[in-house]
Amino acid sequence: MDLVFATNNVHKLDEIRAILQGKINVLSLSDIGCHVDIPETADTLEGNARIKAEYVYNKYGYDCFADDTGLEVKALHGAPGVRSARYAGDQHDSVANRRKLLADLSGTDDRSARFRTVIVLIIKGKEYVFDGMVVGHIANSEKGTQGFGYDAVFVPDGYESTFAELPAEQKNSISHRANAVSKLVNFLNTHPI
Ligand code: IMP
Repeated sequence: MDLVFATNNVHKLDEIRAILQGKINVLSLSDIGCHVDIPETADTLEGNARIKAEYVYNKYGYDCFADDTGLEVKALHGAPGVRSARYAGDQHDSVANRRKLLADLSGTDDRSARFRTVIVLIIKGKEYVFDGMVVGHIANSEKGTQGFGYDAVFVPDGYESTFAELPAEQKNSISHRANAVSKLVNFLNTHPI
């Protein structure tokens, strides 16, 4: 059984293939000959995940799923949210994004934040939505060298370390994406396709 993951992000592909343990053959965008950068023009995470999944389903006819992730900061009224990748500009620069976030929160006491991932799955034209979340706060400065994106400034609840200081396996066992993916996997295991 083939299922396309509408991404070319190698880390995300490895993660889901490891979890599915070969039960489902997960194909990437390049595996199906799709080399376009699908524009994420919606104003919600679910909307962007849906755009990517529907693009693949309508154009290539494969059952597929897509994800979108955002960091939501309470003191910033949910920003950067759906604009997380472009927070400091269209160049998708993680270093600049983290710097801007710390500057925008300078002097702010309530640094509560959460990561949220939404996955949209399309099987035989029917859509299913799964989401995952991890709650925590934004550190006062960057710490750690692992991970990517906002990892060096996000401290999950129950920990003193940022995601970038935790071993990858530990982050991946509690992360927003892990939560959403485990709901997807549960669904796939109980609804054979
Ligand atoms: P995407 O939906 O996975 O492309 O993520 C959007 C943006 O959120 C990325 O550019 C990253 O900056 C950020 N992001 C997504 N997942 C993570 C994560 O697990 N840790 C830190 N930042 C993340």
